[in-house]
Amino acid sequence: MIREDLNFLKRFSMVIGMLVGVAVILIVMAMVVQRAVPPEADPNAATRIEQRLKPVGAVYAGATGAAAKAAAEEAARQAAASQVAFGGSTDGQTIYDGVCAACHGTGAGGAPTLDPSHWTARIAKGMDTLHTHAIEGFQGEAGLMPAKGGMPSLTDEQVIATVDWMVEQAR
Ligand code: HEC
Repeated sequence: MIREDLNFLKRFSMVIGMLVGVAVILIVMAMVVQRAVPPEADPNAATRIEQRLKPVGAVYAGATGAAAKAAAEEAARQAAASQVAFGGSTDGQTIYDGVCAACHGTGAGGAPTLDPSHWTARIAKGMDTLHTHAIEGFQGEAGLMPAKGGMPSLTDEQVIATVDWMVEQAR
C-alpha cells in the first residue's frame, strides 16, 4: 500500500472510533437518565387488581359487618343517583337552567317565560294542574309542552320542584 492510503485508513478509523465513542456515551447517558426517572405508575392498576381479586359475594356479620354493609349501601345509592338527571337534585334553578330554559328562557314555541304576565292565568289553574302538565306534557293554545320538558330521566319530584321554582320567579 502506498503512503497516502495508509494515512487515509488511519484518519478514517479515527473518525469511526470517535463516532463509536459518542454512540457509547449516548447509550450510557440514556441508561442513566432512564434509571433516574421513576417509571410512571398506572393510577388505575391497583383498583383493577382489587376488582379482579374481589370476592363475588360478601356476608356482613357483626359490628364491622354492619358498617361495611352501610358503606356498600351508600355506594350503591350514590351510583344509582348518578343515573338520575342532575344527580337527583331538586334545585329548581339548576334544572330550569339545564332543561327548561331552552324554551322558557326565550319563549320559544310559545313557552311562557318567567314574566309574571305569562303566569297569572296559568297559576289560576292551580298548582296541581301545572305540576301534572309539566310531568305528563300539555298541548295548550300557545304550543306544546313536552312531558318533563323532554327529559324523561327527571323524577316527578324534580319536575314539581322546578315548576314551583318557576312560579315563584314569575309571581
Ligand atoms: C321544547 C320546549 C319546552 C321545554 C324544554 C319545556 N317547556 Fe314547559 N312549556 C312549553 C310550552 C310551549 C308551553 C306552553 C303550552 C301552552 O300553554 O300552550 C309550556 C308550558 C309549561 C307550563 C305551564 C303549563 C300550563 O298548564 O299552563 C309549565 C308549568 C311548564 N311548561 C314547565 C316546564 C318545566 C318544569 C320544564 C323543564 C323541566 C319545561 N317546561 C320545559 C315548552 C317547553
